[in-house]
Amino acid sequence: MPPDAPLPAPCSLLPARFRLGVLGSGKGSNFRAIADAIAAAALDAEVRVVISDVESAGILSLARERGLRAEFVAPGRFKTKLEPEAEERVVELLREAGVDLVVLAGWMRMIKAPLLDAFPHRIINIHPSLLPAFPGLESWKQAFAAGASETGCTVHYVDAGMDSGPIIAQRRVPVLPGDTAETLHARIQVAEHELYPAVLRELAQSSSSSPV
Ligand code: GRF
Repeated sequence: MPPDAPLPAPCSLLPARFRLGVLGSGKGSNFRAIADAIAAAALDAEVRVVISDVESAGILSLARERGLRAEFVAPGRFKTKLEPEAEERVVELLREAGVDLVVLAGWMRMIKAPLLDAFPHRIINIHPSLLPAFPGLESWKQAFAAGASETGCTVHYVDAGMDSGPIIAQRRVPVLPGDTAETLHARIQVAEHELYPAVLRELAQSSSSSPV
């Protein structure tokens, strides 16, 4: 996305200083990039709560190290979505924390109606490919196996589909000679760590310039 291109579907009714709720299942490097941008005053936002469906997830440790509220929610019996009660608990935690934008950062489950309805057009995700190419799991492996000459990462609004919501911004990443799927993934993650805070900054700026 060119730096000054308008973002599609701006988050109207959001305050200029986002109160973020972050959901993640993994190591949390995207969360760290966002938290670091906030700490460096490069992003005017506040992380109110970090929630994981994995008790041992690095993202919870990173949040605790920063003195942030970190909550584990037991996911229940399904592998690809939360048990309805668990999803209601996530909604309750986000509401209690006064969150106005939900940021998925390595969240590995589909988002269903309770959460989608509670935060309409207020949930964003980062995905490691140039969507709509390579949705789903391990997209860097998909791109590598397909012999793509470039791939990248995408920030998008979340809907009920798999990596299918409206695209907000993308960053391209080349596939280089000698790459393995792992070196490609590492390069994509560097791009993700730049793109996600930049998108949040731009959303905050666009919401502060539109009537609340
Ligand atoms: C990222 O590659 C993101 O695109 C995908 O999950 C990964 C999470 O990595 N949705 P991390 O936990 O932020 O390091």
